[in-house]
Amino acid sequence: MTQHAAVTAGPEAATSSKPGLREAEAPSAEAINAFYNGMMPYWHPVLAEADLPDGKLVRVELLGVGIVLARLNGAVVALRDLCRHFQARLSLGEIIDLDGLQQVMCPYHGWSYGADGQCKRIPQLLEGRKIPSNARVDSYKVTTRYGLIWVCLQDEPKFDVPDYPEWGDSSFRTVVMKENEPSKTSSIRMIMGTLDDTHFPWVHQGILGNRDEPAAPDHRVWREGQYLVLQYDVEQPPNLATTDMSAAGVDQIEKIALRYTDYVGMPNVIRLVKDSAAGRYVVWLATCPNSYNQTTNFWAFSRNYDMSPERDSTYEEFSAHVRTQDKPIIESQRPWLLPPFWSQIELPLGPADKPLMEFQRWLEELGIVSGI
Ligand code: FES
Ligand SMILES: [Fe+2]
Repeated sequence: MTQHAAVTAGPEAATSSKPGLREAEAPSAEAINAFYNGMMPYWHPVLAEADLPDGKLVRVELLGVGIVLARLNGAVVALRDLCRHFQARLSLGEIIDLDGLQQVMCPYHGWSYGADGQCKRIPQLLEGRKIPSNARVDSYKVTTRYGLIWVCLQDEPKFDVPDYPEWGDSSFRTVVMKENEPSKTSSIRMIMGTLDDTHFPWVHQGILGNRDEPAAPDHRVWREGQYLVLQYDVEQPPNLATTDMSAAGVDQIEKIALRYTDYVGMPNVIRLVKDSAAGRYVVWLATCPNSYNQTTNFWAFSRNYDMSPERDSTYEEFSAHVRTQDKPIIESQRPWLLPPFWSQIELPLGPADKPLMEFQRWLEELGIVSGI
């Protein structure tokens, strides 16, 4: 298990509880440590399975920890990306075969590590000497789901990888959106930005809402196992996520009634289910908290209407467009990490912001949000 040493913040570290917090400031050491330690006991998606071919080492970052991924004898392995010898990056090395067992070999002096993180070979070791038992690196829990590799930095994950029932269901057509670079925000703010609906008329004017109808819907929010569930009914302009836009007469429609049911798989995954007369459209986002201010996003979208594969690119463009509208707003939010209620830095408004407040309340209970 990885322990986080105290993060050292600079002299300008934020300790103020006043709303005038300077924008460029990093969160306090306390806030960063709470975020990293609080987020550790969960599964996090770190890489698409397809991006880890046999024979390749790939470095990813999760909660400030460098991890090297490899397929050793067919199984995906996640090791701390720091050699125990002189702390060079193992991800710069190569995969070797040692008596039929594949190992990750450090590029610096050739120490080699097995799937369990134990060093199995030290080329410079004198004959007859044993490899020291503490010549090992952390090895993390790994699983694969929904085309992604998931890692948990603790031995006992608190929850399962959240459900995505439409994935692999042949009555749905699913497209995956590839984001080429991480977002400059925290994963918590990414989830909140996706859970938030009162921004629809402002950021997605004419697509997901209209500014002349800014009233928030009646939010029903509850907890269900590892999920925070939000449900509400709205009317929206017709769009691909509610309407078969290839159907005849669609240009005559002004509004579409739909029901949203959003499932936040605490604390880092969200699945928005939109049910309308056209059928069901699902937005799925799994976030990887690389650090407190960088997040890698894995998106997928499922629909059970207008299912022709030739239509996929239209849906991909639609999702990318909505995402492009959200991105600069979410990346602009400061402080980087969500400030706790006690700080009074934010001013959530009831009942419109109830879903976000309930999410935050749970994050504070989990210890993920506690400082600024
Ligand atoms: S630093 Fe890795 S073998 Fe020396
Ligand atoms: Fe949005």
